[in-house]
Amino acid sequence: MCGIVGYTGLGLLDGASATTPVPSGHPLEVTLEGLRRLEYRGYDSAGVALVGPGQDKVAFAKKSGKLSNLVGEIDAHPMPEATAAIGHTRWATHGGPTDANAHPHLADGDRLAVIHNGIIENFATLKAELLADGVTFRSETDTEVAAQLLAQAYARTKDLSEAMAVTARRLEGTFTLLAVHADDPQTVVGARHDSPLVVGLGEGENFLGSDVAAFIAFTKEALELGQNQIVTITPTSVDVTDFEGRPAEAKRFTVDWDAAAAEKGGFDSFMDKEIHDQPHAVADTLLGRTDLSGRLTLDEIRIDESVLRAVDKIIVIACGTAAYAGHVAKYAVEHWCRIPVEVELAHEFRYRDPIVDEKTLVVAISQSGETMDTLMAVRHAREQGAKVLSIVNTQGSTIPRESDAVLYTHAGPEIAVASTKAFLSQITAAYLLGLYLAQLRGNKFPDEISGLLDELRALPDKVQTVIERGEYVRATARSMKDATSVLFLGRHVGYPVALEGALKLKELAYIHAEGFAAGELKHGPIALIDAGQPVFVVVPSPNSREGLHSKVVSNIQEIRARGARTLVIAEDGDDAVRQFADEVFWIPKAPSLLQPLLAVVPLQIFAMALATAKGLDVDQPRNLAKSVTVE
Ligand code: F6R
Repeated sequence: MCGIVGYTGLGLLDGASATTPVPSGHPLEVTLEGLRRLEYRGYDSAGVALVGPGQDKVAFAKKSGKLSNLVGEIDAHPMPEATAAIGHTRWATHGGPTDANAHPHLADGDRLAVIHNGIIENFATLKAELLADGVTFRSETDTEVAAQLLAQAYARTKDLSEAMAVTARRLEGTFTLLAVHADDPQTVVGARHDSPLVVGLGEGENFLGSDVAAFIAFTKEALELGQNQIVTITPTSVDVTDFEGRPAEAKRFTVDWDAAAAEKGGFDSFMDKEIHDQPHAVADTLLGRTDLSGRLTLDEIRIDESVLRAVDKIIVIACGTAAYAGHVAKYAVEHWCRIPVEVELAHEFRYRDPIVDEKTLVVAISQSGETMDTLMAVRHAREQGAKVLSIVNTQGSTIPRESDAVLYTHAGPEIAVASTKAFLSQITAAYLLGLYLAQLRGNKFPDEISGLLDELRALPDKVQTVIERGEYVRATARSMKDATSVLFLGRHVGYPVALEGALKLKELAYIHAEGFAAGELKHGPIALIDAGQPVFVVVPSPNSREGLHSKVVSNIQEIRARGARTLVIAEDGDDAVRQFADEVFWIPKAPSLLQPLLAVVPLQIFAMALATAKGLDVDQPRNLAKSVTVE
């Protein structure tokens, strides 16, 4: 939540050329570009602050609404040239999304500007203290409290980094803060506590960002900061300390995302592009994870094999779509490994005194690697002695850093706020983990594992086939743009697919949507079925080992008899289902455990197309933010 960008470059001072498309010397452009790439983190308001030589005060602009409003404001009132800049895109917490509450917040006679991501929990106490000192406030935000505290500390120390450390020590809650001061126009200072911040390393320029997407257009070299660190960047230096001012370590890494992957690439929306990226997301997540003999080689899982062999319980912790990916994986991992798997929403996990010990493997699934609920659950699990393995998409993020091991999904940047390709790559990675554990524990015959790996490798082409059949789904969605409620049914691995289909429709099209286990229908939800009620049904393969096909077909008949409009996702050649369906969305044949990776795709396309038909912004649905960094 909230996107943060910081930049400092030599260009304006001595004309040094940078190696990047937007050269140094253009802090405003670099910052706006970074904000454009981070807008998925929040789009309630946006703002920038600039400092340059000879400028008496910070120049700033801020505007409620989307980033385009800020750009319009800057076009109408051009800003001065600068050497350093900070920029912010907001998801409102304290104070509504107004111009006044937008960041940056200024202090010290407008010579100091601060932006913030997180929540300062002791802001009321601090504000009372500042008010008693005669400080006046221009906004309702907790951030302005930090800005005023920083100004007081700077007045004493005359050193922005030291003042930031003093301020950080006084704050409770979660925060990433960035600040610039007119006294020091080449410097940006940041502080990080339980909120994300990464450094981009350039030549004659350096960057800060909430995540690497902020600067991948400019540099792939990055530093991962730890918790409770202060970072000070100038065009030629990066200094990292702890909150006491002692030098601290930051880990260098190279971002493997392609900058072009964060562009729409000719599609109308990021969501459409990311749905089309899915065959690659699955293929890239599989890539390089087997040796020549076909055995899985997950070298990155740096947890002792003896520990993994001794695991007697797996708990998956995640939120939203990532939790549904975990729910799908539960069916497969229990079957392959014969280890009990619980799936728990991360925000519930740590508050229910979970039974976790050193034989528990906790698997944290997160696209962003920053979800606060999941991060807190990771910490709780480790405190109880469990090993934590995370499945994460974003390099340089916090959850991998705080886990015992990480298995990266290679979906590339996911910009649309609602998750699509991350879901497929999370299931793929969780399946690799399950097969690896089965291999390690000798539970399954090697040929069964290699057969499943072959089937997984065949999936990207099948996902592509489903995408190519998308026009029929889109036409159906357009015809349903006035629907007010849509239900989703599935069984076994089709159940979490139904939940995910409902979530996509809620968040994109703002329609009441609910997913149910089809077997639960007669225990209550069937009362919702009325004439014309649209119901999606994910039908298992007629050949599925679980033998659930006929039961789900019976469910379709039951709801149809009560007037439901049945929209059925079925495997190619499943003629038995055709006669009971109003619409059939066909998917290629696959083993039943792999079917979710195909069955969810029409549901994603449906939600996107229906939202588009309603004229909604599918990339930035209302009230949401991509990376939920507050609890
Ligand atoms: C839904 C969606 C969210 C996320 C959830 C977890 O489309 O995107 O439900 O899946 O907020 O986010 P990550 O995976 O970043 O931890």
